[in-house]
Amino acid sequence: MSKPTFYITTPIYYPSDNLHIGHAYCTTATDTMARFKRLSGYDVMFLTGTDEHGQKIERKAMDAGKTPQQYVDDIVAGIKDLWKLMNISYDDFIRTTDKRHEVVVQKIFKQLYDQGDIYKSEYEGWYCTPCESFWTETQLKDGCCPDCGRPVEKTKEESYFLRLSKYAPWLIDYLRNNPEFLQPATRTNEMLQNFLLPGLEDLCVSRTSFKWGIPVTFDEKHVVYVWLDALTNYISALGYLSEDPEKFNKYWPADIHVVGKEIVRFHAIIWPIILHALGLPLPKQVFGHGWLVINGGKMSKSFGNVVDPVILCERYGTDAIRYFLMREIAFGSDGNFTNESLLNRINSDLANDLGNLLSRTVAMIEKYFDGVVPQPGEPEEVDTNLWNQASQLHETYQELMDKLQFSNALSAVWGLIGNCNKYIDLTAPWILAKSDEGKERLKTVMYTLYECVRMIAVFITPFMPSTPARMYEQLGITDENKMNWQSALAFSLDSFGATVKKGEAMFPRIDIKKELEALNIAQGNDKAEKKAEKEEKKADKKQEKKEKKAQKEEFVPPAEISIEQFMSVVLKTAKVIACEPVEKADKLLKLTVKVGEETRTVVSGIAKHYTPDQMVGKTVILAANLKPAKLRGIESQGMILAAYENDTLRLLTADGEVSDGITIS
Ligand code: ME8
Ligand code: MG
Repeated sequence: MSKPTFYITTPIYYPSDNLHIGHAYCTTATDTMARFKRLSGYDVMFLTGTDEHGQKIERKAMDAGKTPQQYVDDIVAGIKDLWKLMNISYDDFIRTTDKRHEVVVQKIFKQLYDQGDIYKSEYEGWYCTPCESFWTETQLKDGCCPDCGRPVEKTKEESYFLRLSKYAPWLIDYLRNNPEFLQPATRTNEMLQNFLLPGLEDLCVSRTSFKWGIPVTFDEKHVVYVWLDALTNYISALGYLSEDPEKFNKYWPADIHVVGKEIVRFHAIIWPIILHALGLPLPKQVFGHGWLVINGGKMSKSFGNVVDPVILCERYGTDAIRYFLMREIAFGSDGNFTNESLLNRINSDLANDLGNLLSRTVAMIEKYFDGVVPQPGEPEEVDTNLWNQASQLHETYQELMDKLQFSNALSAVWGLIGNCNKYIDLTAPWILAKSDEGKERLKTVMYTLYECVRMIAVFITPFMPSTPARMYEQLGITDENKMNWQSALAFSLDSFGATVKKGEAMFPRIDIKKELEALNIAQGNDKAEKKAEKEEKKADKKQEKKEKKAQKEEFVPPAEISIEQFMSVVLKTAKVIACEPVEKADKLLKLTVKVGEETRTVVSGIAKHYTPDQMVGKTVILAANLKPAKLRGIESQGMILAAYENDTLRLLTADGEVSDGITIS
């Protein structure tokens, strides 16, 4: 039987400067998804590439004293090197200067013209060259580009236009009827409110004032507008309208276009209309992720606050950087990048949690069983608890991965890692090793740890593609069947007999203070960093004051409320699928809860009363329509109910078995 297909793309990057960690973020996420789908049995097509035409590139080349082609060739080589360094497993790399691409753009332009969807007229308005976007007078913000805030240029030239206005009603219906098309869900509303409902104007799709573009075949003084050119890459790379359309037939429509939030409108308005006009099916999903920001501002070359991924990968290893990017920021939201948070994650999650678990497991098997993994005996409850968690992990993980909730998926895996480390403390192998009876028991304990670590290696594969091999080496695993997705679906009892071999620490602990200084010097931003630190502290203090004030002003409920008031609170059952402490907040826990089809993050002040692993598996009561609030930088989507009495807190839960997502009435 042939495998199901999965086609996923990144945006094609402008080769106008070296890429920064914000670009690497987008590509890493896409790569993680592609690797997850390959791992779980799909025939994956993963496309990336470069967007090489347009006025911006032409000017950059001129400034550099090169021809545009020389200029882009040099930068594209560097981009490919970066993807190699970052272990990006793309299946094809398309350049918009490839002949295979140019001819398709020309054919599409001609077809749309012949069928009357493109017509000739004159453009008069504004143009933002860095964004390659047209704007009307009323769309400008203080006379500048509403997207990037930079100056725009007055433009008046003969142009061809694409009839967006004709297709707007169709698109409005489509977006409304297909809420899964544009994710996260809030982006659909943005498109409707900001662009579609106010009225969509026809789009200028050719330029005559410069040369660096694909010529319009039937009117050679025009070059095709760079966004029409660029978007076409998603189908030209598959051989659409070529002699060999096999890939197009196989992979189109795309499963996911991953794009940054500022280019969602090109992908959710212009691209669907082009496809629809060509009679082609639309991609199944456009996912608009957030930005990596530094001190609140988008990381971008023009703001002079870029972080170079090469320096980071070379210092800490690619897998550590990939892990950090996918774990630290909820995909879809913006996230702040700091060196400190990166180094803290490496130490706590990778060196401590994962690294220590592997090295302790291997060291103990060497010490107590001469390195040979023992066969497990009759399990006790403490064992089966862990076996069950490991066996069920793939369900949560797969569900979260399919929603591109990478951070939550990792947090579920780290939930198992945390419990394995606790299991060592609970079972105390060093005591068991002292008696014959204990030694029998120790077989099951060591086996349990070994098998869990093996499964963990499989789950982290899409995120950290080279770490699993280093783990398998220490675990003595060479059989592919112990590395594949199938082998992570259940805790199995037949992994004994292998010989483990202790190796180097996978993620050596970092001396954070020292390393921060060295890193700042390497990045040449020691001065900027100091200033930012000060500002951050100030902001923290302000927030603390605010919280304290809010606590003081205690809320007194009215003596009576109406039934409508009562009914306006939606209470639902919610199952806790992952839980972790919140950094620097000793009262808070971050819960990941499943509420029927939905997964939510809830921050709750229960850390003094429940540990994270006590929480996992509990079904709690969630106030589900509460306005989300930010706590310690984490968005809490609801509140869970508890009774509080004399310093003890008990959670409310249902009396007996009940599914999650049930509305309480
Ligand atoms: O827009 N954080 O190319 P591009 C997160 N050529 N993502 C970021 C980021 C940041 N700080 N900075 C950039 C283009 N990106 C077009 C695309 S597709 C047919 C044509 C992301 O090089 C950005 O959001 O300016 C975008 O998705 C991608 O990098 C490419 O940006
Ligand atoms: Mg951009």
